[in-house]
Amino acid sequence: MTIPKHVAIIMDGNGRWAKQRGQTRLKGHNAGAETVERIMKASADMGIKYLTLYAFSIENWNRPKLEVEGLMQLLHNFLKKKRKLIMKEGYRLNAIGRIDMLPEKTAKLLEEVMKESENNPNGTLTFALSYGGRTEIIDATKQIAEKVAKGEISVDQIDEQIFSANLYTSNLPDPDIMIRTSGEIRLSNFLLWQLSYAEFFFTETLWPDFSREEYEQIINTFANRDRRFGGVKNA
Ligand code: IPE
Ligand code: IPE
Ligand code: MG
Repeated sequence: MTIPKHVAIIMDGNGRWAKQRGQTRLKGHNAGAETVERIMKASADMGIKYLTLYAFSIENWNRPKLEVEGLMQLLHNFLKKKRKLIMKEGYRLNAIGRIDMLPEKTAKLLEEVMKESENNPNGTLTFALSYGGRTEIIDATKQIAEKVAKGEISVDQIDEQIFSANLYTSNLPDPDIMIRTSGEIRLSNFLLWQLSYAEFFFTETLWPDFSREEYEQIINTFANRDRRFGGVKNA
């Protein structure tokens, strides 16, 4: 079976999951953190080398203060509690987004766990935090413009490879699969450049309910998709 190299997931539906139970949205985010653990383990078991999880978008800063603070606290606790598990599963922790916008202590802890796990052999677990696809493209453009201004590269040299190398994801292959839970059929500013040829999977399941079985089923279905990349099969 074809195991995808890189799976990217928009973890959506925590708020609705909590609402259905008459609980606070933060309870939903807590439950969602359990799913992160489940999916990380399942990915390691299936031999998926790159797992990228959309945890907090740059637009999510506009949510009510209490929810944003709760999410930042949850991220902090998650890193503190799960660093052992990340080491056990053998994933290197990585982050993409405007990490400098996170609370200082959390950015520091993130840095620490990234450092601690940098030689892990099984793959890369990337959290998209304070991440926006358009912001990323703008940040890359600025970097490239600076290199041109300094005379390090010429305008003619700018190609897809150079552009990719200046994105936050320079050290990651493009995702093979993008999964979004909760029934929303949109990208919400996630990996706009990198998802050009990804296979999309949308499920109604809310993120806290997303099971290992459903995940494995998606990976199985992926194996049967015909990816043509603009070409012709069996010509
Ligand atoms: C996803 O769940 C988590 C984040 C965006 C941080 P939501 O909080 O968006 O849940 P819904 O979409 O309101 O149900
Ligand atoms: C996308 O979910 C961001 C994350 C899952 C982190 P949102 O819930 O923020 O997206 P919209 O608002 O429904 O587009
Ligand atoms: Mg949502």
